[in-house]
Amino acid sequence: MVTRFVAGETAAGALAVAQRLLADGLSVSIDYLGEDTVDPEQAAGVASEYVALLDLLSAAGLTAGGRAEVSVKPTAVGLGLPEHGEKTAAENIVRICRAAKAAGTTVTVDMEDHTRVEATLRLVGELRADFPDLGCVIQSYLRRSPGDCEALAVPGSRVRLCKGAYRAPDGFALAARSEVDRNFARCLRILLDGPGYPMLATHDPRLVAIAKSRAATIGREPSSFEYQMLYGIRTDEQAALAAEGAQVRVYVPYGSDWYAYFMRRLAERPANLMFFLRALASRR
Ligand code: FDA
Repeated sequence: MVTRFVAGETAAGALAVAQRLLADGLSVSIDYLGEDTVDPEQAAGVASEYVALLDLLSAAGLTAGGRAEVSVKPTAVGLGLPEHGEKTAAENIVRICRAAKAAGTTVTVDMEDHTRVEATLRLVGELRADFPDLGCVIQSYLRRSPGDCEALAVPGSRVRLCKGAYRAPDGFALAARSEVDRNFARCLRILLDGPGYPMLATHDPRLVAIAKSRAATIGREPSSFEYQMLYGIRTDEQAALAAEGAQVRVYVPYGSDWYAYFMRRLAERPANLMFFLRALASRR
């Protein structure tokens, strides 16, 4: 069940999955699993893993044109450290950005829970001075997100829009799924109408249809934005969009620290949880 969502425990496993997806006409963003790193050495170790991964992807010829890029969680590289968290995370992300630049590809900084949003956006804003193609993520479950989209809808800005995989108190988050979806549609329009590079990360067919229709109405070229989906989820839709000429990037996580990621995927869909429990029961 875990291997449905996670491309193995090693960089070699991620490389093999990336090769297969690229051969199918898709792009990838690879995430080395892990979050809430508790000491600076561990955070530096995560950055080193990314640098080695980028070397591996580059040597295999996958990074050209940004087809294989990487996604990084700020707390994996130190944002949550009790001392100098922001500085440590910035230094580690700079190391990863330098390696990505040398490999001819990009980095996207994932967004974690609502307590990290301010620091993460500040960090990306500062690093974009040196790495203008550094991507960031906006989550439509947060009330603030349309404002953040307005601020980020600037030339060259790479913004991934998703619904958000975390929970937050009422004052910060929208409670109803319908409100989260409406906010996604609103953010999507701001980003598509702007001059940046939107990365629309959803498996929701209604929101994909809204994006398609808006892009057609305003005459956005398919090469000027992309759809993103998670490894192992709605793979038929990934292939169908790519066959229509859309750019589709698959988020591919790997590593031994898969527990939190896997639990978020189970929580998103009761059917996954039932499938998982049945699989466990059948092994007894
Ligand atoms: P929704 O959850 O409403 O699902 C719509 C449909 O998609 C479902 O009906 C089902 O068919 C399918 N589906 C969705 N999830 C599934 C699952 N787990 N298993 C099987 N089918 C499923 N979040 C975040 O907080 N920070 C981040 O940085 C990112 N990054 C990110 C990158 C990419 C490329 C993607 C696609 C998603 C993220 N996310 C994220 C996760 C995101 O916020 C969200 O939790 C999931 O994408 C699920 O939301 P949907 O938009 O797919 O809608």
